[in-house]
Amino acid sequence: MEKKFKRTLITTALPYANGPVHIGHLAGVYVPADIYARFLRLQGRDVLMIGGSDEHGVPITIKAKKEGVTPQDIVDRYHNIIKDSFQELGISFDVYGRTTSDTHRRTASEFFRKLYDDGQFVEQTSEQLYDEEAGQFLADRYVTGTCPHCGAEGAYGDQCEKCGTSLNATDLINPRSAITGSVPVMRETSHWYLPLDRWQKKLEHWILDEHKEWRPNVYGQCKSWLEMGLQPRAVSRDLPWGIPVPVEGAEGKVLYVWFDAPIGYISNTKDLRPDDWETWWKDPETRMIHFIGKDNIVFHCIVFPAMLMAEGSYNLPDNVPANEFMNLEDDKISTSRNWAVWLHEYLRELPGKQDVLRYVLTANAPETKDNNFTWADFQTRNNSELVAILGNFVNRAMVLIHKYYDGVVPEPGERTEMESALFDEIRRASERETDLLEHFKFRDALKEAMEIARAGNKYLADAEPWKIIKTDPERAAVILNAAIQVCANIAVAFEPFLPFMAEKLQKMLGLEKLEWSMLGNDTLIPAGRTLAKPELLFEKIGDEVVEQQLAKLAEAKRLNAINNWKPEPEKPAVPFSDFEKLDIRVGTVLECSKVKKADKLLRFLIDDGMEQRTIVSGIAKFYKPEELVGRQVCFIANFEPRKLKGIESQGMILSAVNPDGSLTLLSPSQPLTPGSTIG
Ligand code: 2FM
Ligand code: ZN
Repeated sequence: MEKKFKRTLITTALPYANGPVHIGHLAGVYVPADIYARFLRLQGRDVLMIGGSDEHGVPITIKAKKEGVTPQDIVDRYHNIIKDSFQELGISFDVYGRTTSDTHRRTASEFFRKLYDDGQFVEQTSEQLYDEEAGQFLADRYVTGTCPHCGAEGAYGDQCEKCGTSLNATDLINPRSAITGSVPVMRETSHWYLPLDRWQKKLEHWILDEHKEWRPNVYGQCKSWLEMGLQPRAVSRDLPWGIPVPVEGAEGKVLYVWFDAPIGYISNTKDLRPDDWETWWKDPETRMIHFIGKDNIVFHCIVFPAMLMAEGSYNLPDNVPANEFMNLEDDKISTSRNWAVWLHEYLRELPGKQDVLRYVLTANAPETKDNNFTWADFQTRNNSELVAILGNFVNRAMVLIHKYYDGVVPEPGERTEMESALFDEIRRASERETDLLEHFKFRDALKEAMEIARAGNKYLADAEPWKIIKTDPERAAVILNAAIQVCANIAVAFEPFLPFMAEKLQKMLGLEKLEWSMLGNDTLIPAGRTLAKPELLFEKIGDEVVEQQLAKLAEAKRLNAINNWKPEPEKPAVPFSDFEKLDIRVGTVLECSKVKKADKLLRFLIDDGMEQRTIVSGIAKFYKPEELVGRQVCFIANFEPRKLKGIESQGMILSAVNPDGSLTLLSPSQPLTPGSTIG
């Protein structure tokens, strides 16, 4: 039986303030959390949505080192960028704090100290990886190596991104320091460990028996962790950046970022509600929901709950609706490869289109499996769903009322079967939407909201008030009154998903407020009300937008290829006599033209000193034919002729392959006599 709760505390994973947020973060955590928070608020339920930046940990110090600035500079910069961009996207945090705040430092220290005083830690000395060149211990992302589980290269000391396994730095095969690239040595150090094994039984009962309703991906991951048997986990680190371990003799040691970050949810609640924060964390009638991405499951379902159990006075989360990952154009989103759509750039480049992004990310939400964002789909969903269905319906209803009745809503008149069927359908769709939202199925819930707009669109198309107005004006009034009631339902049903559209529509309809209980009601707008001027809710997105965004991604790919370029490994040795077999010569280009139906090929006519020869070369993407006439090239003269697109090619022109995959023709550095041999 579902428990009744008085209030809901929504937490959202605290993004590392080492860079801006991208669509992967949004689709995984912030858009669904915001939908849920708005849905509860519309129902008049007591809710807080807690967010903030995660400002400690190795990701921050690595970024600072790379840029030659302090970690504080990094977190100040990105905290503000992230916070502002969330706000602009309408993510309705009640508080957006930071883990470098005084409240947080104090809260995390006190939490650690309580567990320490209660004997909840074990102190252990062990050998850890140490970078002698940097004079620093290496943990987490400071060390990379081969994953012991899947064999992938470049796994981090805390996690393999390829197979998702959580790791200890000492598990890595062939570890290397991410600071200096050197091979680390082993050195003794002592740390405090949270003995998760002590909580194994309790966690098993709590998750496996009491939370069978959790999403299968979340439940499954927890089950496999629990089946492997929980081990003590270090909660301190030897690092210069973080919250000092509040224990004597712990100089140079800080709290492990995954110990302090989730406590950030508590500190940020304290900052927001200094007087009653405990009600939100400790009253059994408060329900806590953690919105996170799948890489955070173990920390939110096992480690943080074990910390809370050890502390003893806190609630445990009621649900952890973790999402899978969002890919971009069929490739994994990656900050280091700049393969991402960054929120702050999106807002700048596509102003006023916040709802479109929210819509597309929800319609493709990676709720049960990884999903894919493409710019082509973004355009299609905007043009054929938001514009053609939702926007079109509302606009027709508004414009017709303005045209026929000067914007004054006509009397409802005598409704027919058609109207009952319409409102029945809307009631059914909104009931399904409500149920789906309650169960964190945002993608399907959005579809139900769209059903309301579809039903409205179909109703108008079938009822044809623009024709009936001439023959039966009373009936036309009935239809348009009904249509405007559907618009009011749309404003409510979409508010959690598309808050900017909902607000605009609310104003156009003159609705004082939006409440969930209005859904399904067919008399929300009284006859006689004058509607505001109709404004378009959505506009078509042209091909040029898609092209620009794809060009930007192609440029990122090109730059990334250049940055990661390494010379090809050398081929096996060959005897000099093999080289002598090749006849390499200089020639002058007499003519050059594109080859029909082959976008890579150019056809050359070359003066080779004896006669003229034709060579076909695959460099059309990199040169205009007319630029090449008169230029000297180097070519292999004695290849057996071969046919390319029906043209006989008598040799091969030499070019160099650049790091981005483009080709550069090799030419002599001074004019040479055509036919000169090279060797
Ligand atoms: O994975 C991450 O980006 C972490 N910064 C999430 C922290 S969630 C919470 F515990 F603060
Ligand atoms: Zn792996």
